[in-house]
Amino acid sequence: MAVPQQTLGFVNRLILAPMVRVGTLPMRLLALDCGADIVYCEELVDLKMLQCKRVVNDLLGTVDFVAPDGKAVFQTCSREHDRIVFQMGTADPDRALLVARLLENDVAAFDVNMGCPKEYSTKGGMGAALLSNPENIKQILSKLVSGVSKPITCKIRILPSLEETVQLCKMMEQTGISAIAVHGRTKDERPQHPVHLDSVRAISKAISIPVIANDIFGLGDFCHDVEEKLAIISETQEQSVDRTLCALDVTDGGSGGVVELPFRFDRKRFIDNKITPKTALLEWCRRQNIPQPEYNTEQREVDRVFRSVVSVAGRRFASSIWYEGKETSRAGHGHGVPACAGHRGRTSRGPAGCINSWEA
Ligand SMILES: Cc1cc2nc3c(=O)[nH]c(=O)nc-3n(C[C@H](O)[C@H](O)[C@H](O)COP(=O)(O)O)c2cc1C
Repeated sequence: MAVPQQTLGFVNRLILAPMVRVGTLPMRLLALDCGADIVYCEELVDLKMLQCKRVVNDLLGTVDFVAPDGKAVFQTCSREHDRIVFQMGTADPDRALLVARLLENDVAAFDVNMGCPKEYSTKGGMGAALLSNPENIKQILSKLVSGVSKPITCKIRILPSLEETVQLCKMMEQTGISAIAVHGRTKDERPQHPVHLDSVRAISKAISIPVIANDIFGLGDFCHDVEEKLAIISETQEQSVDRTLCALDVTDGGSGGVVELPFRFDRKRFIDNKITPKTALLEWCRRQNIPQPEYNTEQREVDRVFRSVVSVAGRRFASSIWYEGKETSRAGHGHGVPACAGHRGRTSRGPAGCINSWEA
């Protein structure tokens, strides 16, 4: 019987790719702080996961999946709960389902790695080896889709011919999965080979579910966008506040949620400038004849850092960056509101597609 799926949207998202030995919890949280919408964990092999016990780690505020030798093979926490996709290495539908059931309540979605060309993966029939066994792909994906309540995705490499790749993707779509990530290289190609974006485009035209693409832009572009956002703070704060609230009129849509922005307040930048973002916001409210902003500061228990939510003009804003000092969290947040002007006309997503997450 089909289990109703909870949806994690994959359209127009900035996603941290799965990376062995890289995509661990600290890296994923960093990626979320830097604006990722969704984070994939490193590939973890089904047999290894099935030896693990689920342990609630009160000290770290994490849920750990611990192997018999005491090592935490996979760790997660509430901050990523709705954004973490667990990528498994598997070649066996039954084992895949057991892993998914083990983790079902702790992650937002599951992915099957069908792109790893390394021998340790392919020799067990996993990773890119699955690409030559479409019947097994169908079994694994169908079993996962009908067996757990979370969205299922898979990550493939392209096949030597576009027709074969499109045919494979159509078959995978039929199983009911929610998205396909396409690494636009064949299994024999290496990072120095260019990505076949034309193939990725053709696949996305041929199927209706979202296609997640690698290599759309490099880290350099992302950093450039982040720098562009940070540059906003050197604009006059008055202009920023005006433009911010104007942009927010369009984006909030009256949801009553918290507009969250990943901006860091750097006090050093305001040494010669008495008008901090917080002051500018206060002055703006006075000019508009609206009540002055109200700050509500909370402290996170695990690491004792602070975050402030400011209510202004009937809306609430917060920086997604947490601070060690209570006052800086307020000043930093005050900065976050003007910085929203960094949309520069793009109101549904910020530069690098990474701001404006909404919370109830
Ligand atoms: C260090 C490293 C580890 C990776 N590990 C995985 C993995 O565990 N699972 C996977 O599907 N892809 C893995 N990949 C592939 C990436 O997810 C991605 O598809 C690839 O780097 C191509 O994207 P890019 O051109 O944007 O780097 C890894 C890549 C790197 C560089």
